[in-house]
Amino acid sequence: MTPETNTLFDAARAAQARAYVPYSRFRVGAAIRAANGMVYAGCNIENAAYPVGNCAEASAIAAMVMAGETRILEALVVGDGAGLCTPCGGCRQRLREFGAPGVKVHIADADRIKRTFTLDELLPFSFGPDNLTG
Ligand code: THU
Repeated sequence: MTPETNTLFDAARAAQARAYVPYSRFRVGAAIRAANGMVYAGCNIENAAYPVGNCAEASAIAAMVMAGETRILEALVVGDGAGLCTPCGGCRQRLREFGAPGVKVHIADADRIKRTFTLDELLPFSFGPDNLTG
């Protein structure tokens, strides 16, 4: 793991510990490295009105945008469970808004990165901001 990726892992794990998940009990943390070199992290935040809950990736993106950044260079998601905690469909599109197709998205468990995908692998033939300007 590069030092940058290790920093993402630590930030995502710290965010995961903050997850507000009284309904699913499924903790997720996400961290993104932005073009300014800073790391922004977020957790999933559930709601008694279930569909209103939000994913960890959305929380991390909100933190990045609030800091004035709009370009993702690398992302990492850590989730509970034995399976790969890959971003949901909606979050793939959210990441695509701020990340180029080649951006790496690491999927981790509590101990290590289990798989690394590019955004393009997770969301092929994506519709992105360029579609509206080209
Ligand atoms: N969840 C995320 O936060 N990110 C993902 O990539 C997958 C799912 C959350 C949503 C919900 O709070 C819980 O995990 C169970 O679906």
